[in-house]
Amino acid sequence: MDVSRLLLSVVMVMSTSDGISGTSDSSCFHLDQDRYKVIEGEAFYYVPFDMDDPNLPDENITWFKNGSEVMNITTDETHRIHYHGGALLFLNISTDDAGYYSARHIEPSGECFYYHLKIEVFSETSRENLTYGAIRNSAQNINIPCPQPVKDTCKAFNGNFTWFKGKNLIPGQHRESLWVNDATKDDEDIYTCICTWTHNHKLYNSSGSRRLFVLKTAIFRNATIVSPTSKEQLADEGSSMKLNCTVHCGINAERDCEATWWINGKPAKQMDGYTENSTLDIEDPSKRTFSTAILTIQRVSAEDFQKKFQCKVSGFYTANSATLTLKQRESIIPLIVSGMCVFVIAVFAALLVKYFAIDLALLFRPYFSPGKCNEDMKMYDAYVVYQTQSVDKETEDKLSNFVTKTLPSVLEEKCGYRLFIQGRDDIPGEDRVELVESCIKQSRRLMVILTPGSGPEMMENPTSDQTSAIGFDWQVKESGGQRAWSGIN
Ligand SMILES: *[C@@H]1O[C@H](CO)[C@@H](O)[C@H](O)[C@H]1NC(C)=O
Ligand SMILES: *[C@@H]1O[C@H](CO)[C@@H](O)[C@H](O)[C@H]1NC(C)=O
Ligand SMILES: *[C@@H]1O[C@H](CO)[C@@H](O)[C@H](O)[C@H]1NC(C)=O
Ligand SMILES: *[C@@H]1O[C@H](CO)[C@@H](O)[C@H](O)[C@H]1NC(C)=O
Ligand SMILES: *[C@@H]1O[C@H](CO)[C@@H](O)[C@H](O)[C@H]1NC(C)=O
Ligand SMILES: *[C@@H]1O[C@H](CO)[C@@H](O)[C@H](O)[C@H]1NC(C)=O
Ligand SMILES: *[C@@H]1O[C@H](CO)[C@@H](O)[C@H](O)[C@H]1NC(C)=O
Ligand SMILES: *[C@@H]1O[C@H](CO)[C@@H](O)[C@H](O)[C@H]1NC(C)=O
Ligand SMILES: *[C@@H]1O[C@H](CO)[C@@H](O)[C@H](O)[C@H]1NC(C)=O
Ligand SMILES: *[C@@H]1O[C@H](CO)[C@@H](O)[C@H](O)[C@H]1NC(C)=O
Repeated sequence: MDVSRLLLSVVMVMSTSDGISGTSDSSCFHLDQDRYKVIEGEAFYYVPFDMDDPNLPDENITWFKNGSEVMNITTDETHRIHYHGGALLFLNISTDDAGYYSARHIEPSGECFYYHLKIEVFSETSRENLTYGAIRNSAQNINIPCPQPVKDTCKAFNGNFTWFKGKNLIPGQHRESLWVNDATKDDEDIYTCICTWTHNHKLYNSSGSRRLFVLKTAIFRNATIVSPTSKEQLADEGSSMKLNCTVHCGINAERDCEATWWINGKPAKQMDGYTENSTLDIEDPSKRTFSTAILTIQRVSAEDFQKKFQCKVSGFYTANSATLTLKQRESIIPLIVSGMCVFVIAVFAALLVKYFAIDLALLFRPYFSPGKCNEDMKMYDAYVVYQTQSVDKETEDKLSNFVTKTLPSVLEEKCGYRLFIQGRDDIPGEDRVELVESCIKQSRRLMVILTPGSGPEMMENPTSDQTSAIGFDWQVKESGGQRAWSGIN
């Protein structure tokens, strides 16, 4: 017997004499505590996590329940709680079994270990809180493995698996893991695997559950504003209108995908006269994700045209914004009215010009220098001829008055024409024929004053009894003495 074993025996003897054998041993190494939550009525098969091989002689390990008093656990298989080597079995576990359990193990090398276990017992209704690690997956077909302790139990006792989705049995599933094919949101649930095993010709159940979250493959992209596309939008004052703020966030990217309207830096939701509706749409089958905020302006007011409407969007990675202003729509009615006014004025002006052309010409004549028209180097605007022979005295007076006073007073004084009037402007003693010829050449027009009962035969004058003088004038053309009759009265 070597020294260490002797010492160990001494320690053991001392412990025994204390009457609390196996519960404390300073030379032993304490391993971390394992914790389990189990369901009342089920069976629980436990092998310490740190134990390499549970197949060891029963006498090399002692199991006991630690508490206010220490209770040794038997190896008698007829007992509800017993052990086989490194394995501790609870058959038909009850709430009273909750507590702390420990095992003291002496290795062939003489090393001593303590294993510790904490057990909590719950009723079946608490199953949703007793799940092992959740499965979060975006794959089309998802594998749900049975929790390891249940798998170990089934392996140790050659049990059979059954699977439950929530409270419903999934028929035909007896493997240690379950495949959920073509997973959708509807497949999200708590999945329970139950291992049914026999021990001493009795059936026992051990179960473990996992929660499944079916994730969608999401592709997040920078939040892109799809609408509005321009910085201005036409609006009619007094009418209601809708503004559309739409953001594209990516594929299956509903996370943080938002669109909102802000007016002059304030959320539109908080402002009277505006309502905002937001929707999140995932297009099928592309799964492109859009968030849309529709701002409804109940009545567009004059102030709205001064306001800044901001479409603020955010996605998973980035935020963005676009500013929109309203612009008064140009009404077509003023356009038509002004067009019609212009047309009426033009017609009116045309009529005026047509009927008062001469008066207008005379009116504007003083403003145009007569010299301007003098480009043809002629001295006179008109050469005035009138009949002096074979008229009675009365007519002669009238004619002379007309020719020497009335005619110059209007044409020369008011209108600025230069006239050559026979009998007024000819210098006595000059060669009359020569004078007439040169003067006519120097004049642009020839003005003939006719008295009643006279005049050229071509002018059939129906009012021959008229006493007033009738005037004709001919334009004297430069080219070859051709004369054009241009006006009467
Ligand atoms: C028994 O439990 C008590 C208190 O829970 C603890 O202090 C003690 O170390 C435990 N003994 C063993 C051997 O685990
Ligand atoms: C518990 O078991 C140990 C060793 O197997 C033994 O020495 C001790 O007396 C037992 N204690 C009780 C209370 O049965
Ligand atoms: C399990 O234990 C309860 C009492 O704790 C008992 O009523 C029940 O019949 C037991 N079930 C089995 C299968 O032994
Ligand atoms: C069990 O303990 C005995 C002596 O106490 C030792 O000889 C034997 O090797 C141990 N066996 C194992 C598997 O630990
Ligand atoms: C599960 O746990 C939560 C919080 O711990 C509790 O509110 C709920 O009642 C529990 N559910 C059940 C069925 O025990
Ligand atoms: C497991 O299933 C097999 C075949 O289906 C059956 O023979 C066996 O008895 C079952 N074992 C248990 C513990 O239910
Ligand atoms: C084991 O679980 C199955 C399914 O819930 C149930 O039908 C059966 O009665 C249970 N057996 C025991 C011994 O608890
Ligand atoms: C997304 O935005 C970040 C920062 O705003 C920029 O660095 C990056 O280039 C953008 N990516 C694309 C694809 O536009
Ligand atoms: C908003 O704009 C988007 C992108 O132009 C369009 O797909 C959507 O139908 C619009 N929504 C409404 C309510 O006008
Ligand atoms: C906006 O949403 C409310 C309720 O949320 C609804 O009553 C109203 O009809 C919606 N308006 C529009 C324009 O969609």
